Amino acid sequence: MTFDLKTHLANQAGRVETALDTLLQEAVSDGEISRPQRLIAAMRHGALNGGKRLRPILVMETAKLFGRSDDGVVQAASALELIHCYSLVHDDLPAMDDDDLRRGQPTVHKAFDEAAAILAGDALLTLAFDVITEDDIHSDPAVRLRLARELSRAAGIGGMAGGQMLDLESEHRERSETEIRHLQSMKTGALLRYACRAGAILGNAPEDDVARLTRFGEIIGLAFQLADDLLDVEASPEVMGKATGKDAEAGKATLVGLMGIEKTRAELQALLNEAHSLLEAYGDRAAVLHSLADYVVNRDS
Ligand code: IPE
Ligand code: IPE
Ligand code: MG
Ligand code: MG
Ligand code: MG
Repeated sequence: MTFDLKTHLANQAGRVETALDTLLQEAVSDGEISRPQRLIAAMRHGALNGGKRLRPILVMETAKLFGRSDDGVVQAASALELIHCYSLVHDDLPAMDDDDLRRGQPTVHKAFDEAAAILAGDALLTLAFDVITEDDIHSDPAVRLRLARELSRAAGIGGMAGGQMLDLESEHRERSETEIRHLQSMKTGALLRYACRAGAILGNAPEDDVARLTRFGEIIGLAFQLADDLLDVEASPEVMGKATGKDAEAGKATLVGLMGIEKTRAELQALLNEAHSLLEAYGDRAAVLHSLADYVVNRDS
């Protein structure tokens, strides 16, 4: 590889890290009354603990296709990451997956307590909608409104949260392949799809491009979850920074469980081919997105 992808991704992740760090300080924003120290600490534990930052990086790289790489894009990307972090804090709670380890550290409810983890998730989610409406995001308020509304729909009842409900209902129950694909498109797919759409919208892309990148995001979403499920079977907790073997333990129906490892790998390759051909329209400008697609499929953590 001529281009050092690892360094580039680390730099992009660093920009997100800095933005999140700035957002999660004890000093109040206009209109707030105070920020309790313990809640801020729990939020920082949930958000500043070394995630891959894949979703915000997808926002930034898609926006860059259309010439935007300013701090407003990083803000929008960080709003999405706040939602992702909240979803993980709640996903790990005893009432959900009951996990002790996340990103190689104790989960928020272990490091603090359950009430703090619930509130940290609530406040991360709420902060995301504060951030996505900031003036820097886009000069046109109608675009900011569109981004906020689409974020709400990707994250909420008809997206990630809805998918989490269907996922929990799948424990110790038969699920058809169609049902699993449906729930995964919500649970994991919706935020990754939003990432790629949002980047295009931030860059004032023509609607054809928004649609093409939406499809790219859907493919990344499916590939990401297939890889996550494969890693749950094949990888070690040390490498993953979270427990593995959890799906089988919870009796959770996954596509890997249903199709087997060989068929899953074949599907991943087919998805990757489609992802690459969608990006052809952008020539060399899409080099990083090509590599990100490869990374999502071949990642080892
Ligand atoms: C993990 O997401 C949760 C799923 C949606 C499967 P990531 O693998 O992107 O987690 P971090 O943000 O890098 O920790
Ligand atoms: C979690 O899926 C997805 C969301 C948080 C929306 P998983 O439960 O499979 O994620 P991990 O494996 O705990 O990261
Ligand atoms: Mg879960
Ligand atoms: Mg989980
Ligand atoms: Mg998983």
